[in-house]
Amino acid sequence: MSKHFPKDFWWGAASSAFQIEGGWNEGGKGLSVADFNSFRRSAVQADSKVASDFYHHWEEDIDLMKELGLKAYRFSIAWTRIIPDGDGKVNADGIAFYNRVIDKLISCNIIPFVTLYHFDLPYALVEKYNGWESRECAYAFQRYAQICFSEFGDRVKYWQVHNEQNLMMRVNERMNIYETDPFKQEKMRAQMDYHMFLAHALATNDCHKMVDGGKIGPAVSSTVTYPLTNKPEDVWAALMNNRFKTDYCLDFHFNGEYPGYYLAYLKEQNLMPAMEDGDREILKQAKMDFIALNYYRTLTARYLPADENHPKGQRIEGFNEVDYDMYGYWKIEKNTNLAASEYGAQIDPVGLRIVLNEYWSRYHLPLIITENGLGTADELAEDGKVHDAYRISYLHDHIAAIADAIEDGVDVMGYCPWSVIDLLSSHQGFKKRYGLVYVNRTDSDLKDLARIKKDSYFWYKNVIASNGNSL
Ligand code: BG6
Repeated sequence: MSKHFPKDFWWGAASSAFQIEGGWNEGGKGLSVADFNSFRRSAVQADSKVASDFYHHWEEDIDLMKELGLKAYRFSIAWTRIIPDGDGKVNADGIAFYNRVIDKLISCNIIPFVTLYHFDLPYALVEKYNGWESRECAYAFQRYAQICFSEFGDRVKYWQVHNEQNLMMRVNERMNIYETDPFKQEKMRAQMDYHMFLAHALATNDCHKMVDGGKIGPAVSSTVTYPLTNKPEDVWAALMNNRFKTDYCLDFHFNGEYPGYYLAYLKEQNLMPAMEDGDREILKQAKMDFIALNYYRTLTARYLPADENHPKGQRIEGFNEVDYDMYGYWKIEKNTNLAASEYGAQIDPVGLRIVLNEYWSRYHLPLIITENGLGTADELAEDGKVHDAYRISYLHDHIAAIADAIEDGVDVMGYCPWSVIDLLSSHQGFKKRYGLVYVNRTDSDLKDLARIKKDSYFWYKNVIASNGNSL
């Protein structure tokens, strides 16, 4: 059965600066937290020094995007290329690099869709302020965003503020949290989260003032959680998991304040962050224009009652495995109805239809999927090609689920598979590839970095050319 997409649907693809660019210290770029973390793992996997070397291959890579027929390219600007130390001197070379990229995209009829911050906080801000713990970091971000709006806003009309604030916040390494005392750690996390909300609002308001016709929104890591059984407690656990992993973040952006359930948690745990007079107005004014969501998998939750090993309200080790609310605990379980990728992500196209319906009915804002893809150990076959039928099947089923959501009445603007070309996976380097184009390197051998179109590239090209009718 053929699938229907709006005429102006954004058939896109995605990447992020530290995962694709390389050139980590070229053109005046400063060190970022993402570089710092990837260098620490470089004994076992590739790091961000070269990555996919987009910094030197950008023309060839954008030509490949043009040949693919992309309508939009979702990528991030490295804050450390624009302001190497985060809040000091502006780096003209960095601005010139992104001007070249943006101009080339536009000359290829590809809409540049820019994320301001994708895990790569300038490391200098960590040394200076412990990063997001300080309110100064929100102001440094505001200045960086203003520079981007004024340098690129004549051509870039679509912006995302932070990539996956909701997920990033839970990963200590990404936030540079090394505090070991559990209470102090959570207190710091809550303050950092608040400063990122503030930064989001400041940038949103500035975008609306500075960019003629500018549209801006968050990019969240979306969560769909199923109850393990139909026991009401399991249903409650699934709801809590969704709320505490993603919904609180969207609710905050939407209403300009913490939702009641999250406020209750912050108060009960004595984690309320410091706020200042005037913040409320800034937060309330900042209206998102769309919601970008990254979608890879669904989760399943089981309720666990509080007991003496898990006393009420106490965070326990392995936050992603077992979470708590004020009334008990929940545990993430395997969903035996779903297949999983070789890295354990449970593959669930129906979940995408569900989450699109959920967000649409709750917020009534246009939605765009900015990441969705399958990470695998692709290999070059003897014929020099990559036969990634598994990726085609994954993308096919997820795109079909989007078409179903559109039929359900959801306003979906576009779809950007992760990733446009192979790039550095955050924890598995080049062992885990997501791209439509193979990049000829491994973790330990840079080889020639040649670009080789995978079977999925040709398949997606057809999907785009037929506006989804070929599905
Ligand atoms: C998303 C991130 O959460 O997941 C990407 O925004 C990341 O940056 C992607 O690459 C896939 O995760 P991983 O760990 O396989 O790279």
